[in-house]
Amino acid sequence: MTSATPHIRVAERRDIAAMHVVRLAVRENRLVSAVIGPADYEREMELTGRGWVAESDGAIVGFAVGNARTGNIWALFVAPEHERSGLGRRLHDVMVEWLFSSGLERLHLTTAPATRAFGFYVKAGWTPVDAVVRGEQRFELARSDRRSELGAR
Ligand SMILES: CC(C)(COP(=O)(O)OP(=O)(O)OC[C@H]1O[C@@H](n2cnc3c(N)ncnc32)[C@H](O)[C@@H]1OP(=O)(O)O)[C@@H](O)C(=O)NCCC(=O)NCCS
Repeated sequence: MTSATPHIRVAERRDIAAMHVVRLAVRENRLVSAVIGPADYEREMELTGRGWVAESDGAIVGFAVGNARTGNIWALFVAPEHERSGLGRRLHDVMVEWLFSSGLERLHLTTAPATRAFGFYVKAGWTPVDAVVRGEQRFELARSDRRSELGAR
């Protein structure tokens, strides 16, 4: 465990291997069937959107990737030993602000019900919509929801 406050910066291609280590380390919303490889990260970070990493003492301990074409939150993951210290929210906020600043009116994501992520997104102002499909709950966040959520903090 380190005491340094993680630093958030835009992700680069050289970060992908370490980002995927975090992706595989989480205990919930684990990668099950889909095979995600470096080409998928490159597409999401360089072609369709942007990624951010949280670095602590030179190690990547969390990351987020958002798609500016569709408004999809492609990834938001914090290494288990760094959870519950506000890092997920910091990554979330920088990604959401950037996606809305790119002109999108509404963002969406899916996550498994009964996970920490479910409550995390509700706390961050997201709304669950539609029924659970294949174990995944869809959430949406409108630009106007975000404005009122920020005002309430
Ligand atoms: C979901 C995840 C990103 C949250 O990251 P985190 O760093 O632990 O969350 P934070 O510490 O930033 O929490 C931010 C706020 O949300 C609140 N929160 C988090 N989970 C919550 C829950 N289940 N219910 C209610 N509030 C919750 C925190 O209390 C905190 O509130 P505060 O700002 O008043 O202190 C992280 O747990 C994770 O990576 N989980 C595994 C992978 C995953 O499920 N990712 C999402 C895939 S879509």
